[in-house]
Amino acid sequence: MRIIPATIQHIEAVVDIFCSAFESSISFFAPVNLKLKKAFKDVFTLLHLVFGKGFMVAVMGDEVCGYIVMADNIKRLWLGTVFSGFLVKMAAKAIFGAYCLNLSTIFKVIKNKLFYMKFEMLTISCGQLLSIAVLPRHHGKGIGKRLLEAGINYMESRGIKRIKLEVRPDNTPAVRMYEKYGFRPAGRAKDLQGDWLIMVRECS
Ligand SMILES: CC(C)(COP(=O)(O)OP(=O)(O)OC[C@H]1O[C@@H](n2cnc3c(N)ncnc32)[C@H](O)[C@@H]1OP(=O)(O)O)[C@@H](O)C(=O)NCCC(=O)NCCS
Repeated sequence: MRIIPATIQHIEAVVDIFCSAFESSISFFAPVNLKLKKAFKDVFTLLHLVFGKGFMVAVMGDEVCGYIVMADNIKRLWLGTVFSGFLVKMAAKAIFGAYCLNLSTIFKVIKNKLFYMKFEMLTISCGQLLSIAVLPRHHGKGIGKRLLEAGINYMESRGIKRIKLEVRPDNTPAVRMYEKYGFRPAGRAKDLQGDWLIMVRECS
């Protein structure tokens, strides 16, 4: 198994992993279908554009079995979203039905993000683990640990001093894994689906 920087060709596989790993959270907003996957593909393409080598995949043979996205500077995501024209393109696609999202779902997504943004503003100076997931059939094989190690090494190589992440407090496998790698509870946040546990790791 290799951990390598993601390429554009990996994005579809990453979206499949994301959808299978987070299906219940996604279904809170809308059922997972092909059009919704298109929206996620656009989002992950933007993350790839903005964070480059901070976006890595775990590959076994030809199969992408996990991914991690590390944000060395979250401000770049916001700037990239606006100045790459992504925000306008996504809004247009949503309005014209490319993602099959109705208005109430769009408002729910925006409300959720605004609700959460209060916290984002307070912790803007940290590097951030944005997303990590492993295909369910490969859980428990040490792939998550390898991805997390690679993500932490990447952040340290960029001179990042603190890494922050958010995890649902009842996500025991993830919380245990983060604790093992030196992340410690640093607060709580909330969105429409409930609590987030904030964890922070000081880097060397
Ligand atoms: C969290 C996740 C990435 C872990 O990936 P994984 O490849 O299964 O994890 P690993 O096999 O590398 O195990 C890493 C550590 O996690 C913990 N862990 C993994 N599965 C566990 C379980 N079922 N119960 C408790 N702890 C568990 C252990 O501490 C383990 O270390 P150990 O094997 O040395 O004890 C994976 O469960 C996943 O994709 N979950 C869905 C997506 C998700 O929740 N992402 C995190 C959102 S914040």
